[in-house]
Amino acid sequence: MADTVRLDVEDDVATITIDRPDQLNALNVPTLESLGDALEEAEAADARALVLTGAGEKAFVAGADISHMAEMDPEEANEYAQLGHDVANAIEEFPAPAIAGINGYAFGGGMELALACDLRVASERAVLGQTEIDLGIVPGWGGTQRLPRLVGDETARRLIYFGERVDATDALEEGLVGEVVAHDELREHVSELADDLAAQPATALRAAKETINQSHETSLEAGLEFERRTWAGLFGSDDQREGMTAFLEDREPEFE
Ligand code: COA
Repeated sequence: MADTVRLDVEDDVATITIDRPDQLNALNVPTLESLGDALEEAEAADARALVLTGAGEKAFVAGADISHMAEMDPEEANEYAQLGHDVANAIEEFPAPAIAGINGYAFGGGMELALACDLRVASERAVLGQTEIDLGIVPGWGGTQRLPRLVGDETARRLIYFGERVDATDALEEGLVGEVVAHDELREHVSELADDLAAQPATALRAAKETINQSHETSLEAGLEFERRTWAGLFGSDDQREGMTAFLEDREPEFE
């Protein structure tokens, strides 16, 4: 793993930190590849929640590496987009919820990584934007697909067409992030949220994530069919037995 990505696993929570602060955590190829490796390691460690954040005081991730992109031809661009898609998909398909702890700038590919997470918590200093239009391109790591699904078609078009940079307050209002906290409290708040998720029944949580993800992929009819099969499949699981028995015995459940 390149030294620009750190993985820490503690108490079932995996924290991945993009650690290239001098370049505002911009994602060059080695960093992106290492991020993919870190996700695999976190999954192998059976993490029950994942946190993605950036090192330093200024940036979450200031985007794909513009110095790398500047001279790319279409074939190289295709490979770079594929790598970005692979990493964003790995976050989206991670078998436990992923939280983006957005500690500063989240532009272009940085915002796209945040979009692939289940939840987004922003520091009051965060600024987000799909700013690719300013570079004469469009989002290429999932932004054209995930942004409209999150904030709706018109807001997504406005953000992408104008490359608008949105501060934390506006991001909250537009539904780009779920909550905004004081900058100094972000790390602890995200850590507590991750701990709370890790304490949830893991099998049920994974089923919830998969079925919600599926809702973006299919017709309502096919999505409901997927939900019904997933729901039924949970019956007989340790989590289901414990959750319902605990309710009937009027006590708190003890999930494994
Ligand atoms: N790719 C490569 N390098 C980047 C980068 C990116 N996306 N974003 C920032 N950097 C580098 C800068 O080149 C600079 O490097 P240097 O010190 O070697 O010259 C360093 O990070 C600090 O950036 P700087 O622009 O000096 O900081 P700032 O505080 O004045 O501005 C931003 C911060 C984020 C507003 C500005 O860097 C910016 O707009 N970056 C591009 C964001 C973007 O368009 N991302 C989408 C890419 S698809």
